[in-house]
Parts: sequence; C-alpha cells; structure tokens
Amino acid sequence: MNSILEQYKTVPESEVKTWFKAAPVSKFPENGGACVKVNDKQIAVFNFTAEGKWYASQNVCPHKMEMVLSRGMIGEDCGTPKIACPLHKKTFSLETGENLNGEDYSIAIFPVKIEEGFVYIGTH
Ligand code: FES
Repeated sequence: MNSILEQYKTVPESEVKTWFKAAPVSKFPENGGACVKVNDKQIAVFNFTAEGKWYASQNVCPHKMEMVLSRGMIGEDCGTPKIACPLHKKTFSLETGENLNGEDYSIAIFPVKIEEGFVYIGTH
C-alpha cells in the first residue's frame, strides 16, 4: 500500500482514545468541508448541514494521492452520505469510507462530535 495511505486508518467510535479539539463550528462551511491538521495528518471535516450531521475522513484522495477531499462535493447516494473528490469525481461513503464507484481503494473515516460549539475528531 502507498506509504501516505498507511498513515490513515478508520477509527471506530468505540476505539477513540483522544478527542482532538479541532476548531469552532463556525469555521466549517455549511454543506461543505474544511481541512484540519491532526498530529501532522490532514483530516477533512464535513458539515453536512442538510442532514444535521458531521463527518471526517482522510483529506488525501486515494485515486491520485491529492490532498483535496475537503474541497469535494458532499451529497447522498441511496441514503448513504458521500463525498465526491473535486478532481475526478470518485465518490466515497462518509459512513464507511467505501469506494462507491466499485474500485478497490477506500478512505479512512473518523468520528466527530460537537461540544460547546467546538468540533472534535476522534483519534486512536
Ligand atoms: S484525485 Fe480524487 S478522483 Fe482523482
């Protein structure tokens, strides 16, 4: 596997050891994303206002290793929240990280919580 991708592993909520305080909610555009640095890793955080939910994933797109997913388009595919890469429109589930185009690469997903107006990202 590519060494950049090896740095990113999905963190199930039950395995969170540390909640990283990212930024105030107001720093994240509605129905859009922003990039946050967590321990030298770029994490894309998505404020899915239309659903009233938040998601986080690796910022690097596994298609061409570009740090771009935070600038992608969020939407829904048969009830699954998804992010489409802004470069070549590969899409990934924001719940599981699964590639929704049927290719064998996926993205790492991280839990998000909101407390007292701040966004926190769950890490190992
Ligand atoms: S770099 Fe993301 S789809 Fe190509």
